[in-house]
Amino acid sequence: MTTNSNLFGNIAQDLQYNGYSIQSLSLDLPSVLALQARLAELDFSAFNQAGIGRKEDHQTDKTIRRDKIYWLDQRNELESVFLNYMDEVKGYMNQRLFMGLFSYECHFAHYQPGAFYKKHLDAFKGQTNRVLSTVLYLNPDWQTGDGGELVIYDGKDHEKELIRVAPSLGTFVTFLSDEFPHEVLPAKSARFSIAGWFRVNNSIGGHIDPPR
Ligand code: OGA
Ligand code: MN
Repeated sequence: MTTNSNLFGNIAQDLQYNGYSIQSLSLDLPSVLALQARLAELDFSAFNQAGIGRKEDHQTDKTIRRDKIYWLDQRNELESVFLNYMDEVKGYMNQRLFMGLFSYECHFAHYQPGAFYKKHLDAFKGQTNRVLSTVLYLNPDWQTGDGGELVIYDGKDHEKELIRVAPSLGTFVTFLSDEFPHEVLPAKSARFSIAGWFRVNNSIGGHIDPPR
């Protein structure tokens, strides 16, 4: 827990001052091992072509993104290790930054060689309740030439590159969902990550806005 609060404290401070945070070798080892074990047992045919937009707007457009995804679920023991960990993140950020984070959803993403995700925002101001994006990378031996970097752009000048992040095992990225355009450069090797989003609760008439 002390290691967590150190890490969580660093993330909170980065979010407060910059709106994004990059932490290498972040998660506690049991969570990373559980996720690697889960990936090893998953059959990649269970992954679905990722789409853009929500519900009835949902469409797949391979000119925008080419990753395949698999949503995590609390009912799977290995997946629940990570989901419970993210629940701790939620509690910490709410206490320290008053973010009002309410729910969390996330999926494994598999980028095959050649796959990419063009520059996009995860949320548009006023149109969604996604507030905080997270990405955890699960690639043990990522090399410089393997591509697949996450590029984060400036929240004001969308052409200005802020940082390039290699998707190396344990690197954990968080950023404000409606502030920072970002993209995934074409991967040259198979690339695995878990992308997730915290939402605030925009319930109307007692009906909680359902995730996804
Ligand atoms: C996403 C995304 C980044 C990454 O899924 O929305 O931006 O590095 N993923 O996997
Ligand atoms: Mn994104």
